[in-house]
Amino acid sequence: MHPRRLTAMETLRRTIELTQRYSVSDLRIFSSAERARFLPSGTPHPPIDRSLAFELLYRLEPELYERLVAAERIHPAVLEWLPRVDRAVEVGAGTGRLTTHLLTRCAHIVAVEPARRMRERLRTALSSEPSGKIDIVDGFFDALPVPDASADLVVTCSALERDAAHGGNTGLAEMERVSAPGGVIVVVWPNHLDWLTAHGYTHVSFPGPMWMEFRDTDEAIEMAEIFFPHAAAEVRARGKARIPYDVLGVNPPRDLAFKVNRR
Ligand SMILES: C[S@@+](CC[C@H](N)C(=O)[O-])C[C@H]1O[C@@H](n2cnc3c(N)ncnc32)[C@H](O)[C@@H]1O
Repeated sequence: MHPRRLTAMETLRRTIELTQRYSVSDLRIFSSAERARFLPSGTPHPPIDRSLAFELLYRLEPELYERLVAAERIHPAVLEWLPRVDRAVEVGAGTGRLTTHLLTRCAHIVAVEPARRMRERLRTALSSEPSGKIDIVDGFFDALPVPDASADLVVTCSALERDAAHGGNTGLAEMERVSAPGGVIVVVWPNHLDWLTAHGYTHVSFPGPMWMEFRDTDEAIEMAEIFFPHAAAEVRARGKARIPYDVLGVNPPRDLAFKVNRR
């Protein structure tokens, strides 16, 4: 079978950096619930900064996001640290980088993900799982569609932020509401550690060298041009598929922050 020819727009977009990829007209992709979170009210043409560009990426080019995360593997000790439980809720599940691992250690998972095309990809990726093992649902950190005290593990990976659009204090409180007494709330690859520790979370970090591991050198260069343009020249000069995180200016996925629900 011949590979499909790229459309003119696909070819053009190939190496355009993330914050330049999308235009104001792309904002139409957002549902009203997404608009309420991601677009500051009263700003008809908000600047498309990196955070907003990622939200557009999840909705317009989820396959490109998957190519990025294929190279960003969570530290195995982080995955091993997660408890084996009956009932887990994952928020901001994306295309399932953590979810696939949770499936090996949790009897039932509710995966909450607001971006429709990310949910669709997750559903396709997990279609061979036994029915009843996972529910993939629409929802946001600040209004989790999950009953009180219904999960032994409430977890999120690379999705929770301190700002309200990506969880904030309300999102953290929602994760705790959903957690059963004696359960654990875990933020994998956390940002804003000061914020989390102020809310009673304990930081755990695992040592060892970590790289982003692209499938080949061309992929490393293309991904750097799109996601880490400041480092693209260095990635090109190295000519390797494996790039240390510090070259890209990214903290490696070696951390988690957790809290036991003592209610
Ligand atoms: C960087 S991706 C991480 C996805 C996945 N957890 C992973 O590790 O690959 C962030 C995810 O959070 C989701 N997200 C963004 N804002 C959210 C919100 N307010 N509530 C819930 N999920 C959100 C995005 O749609 C996206 O799938």
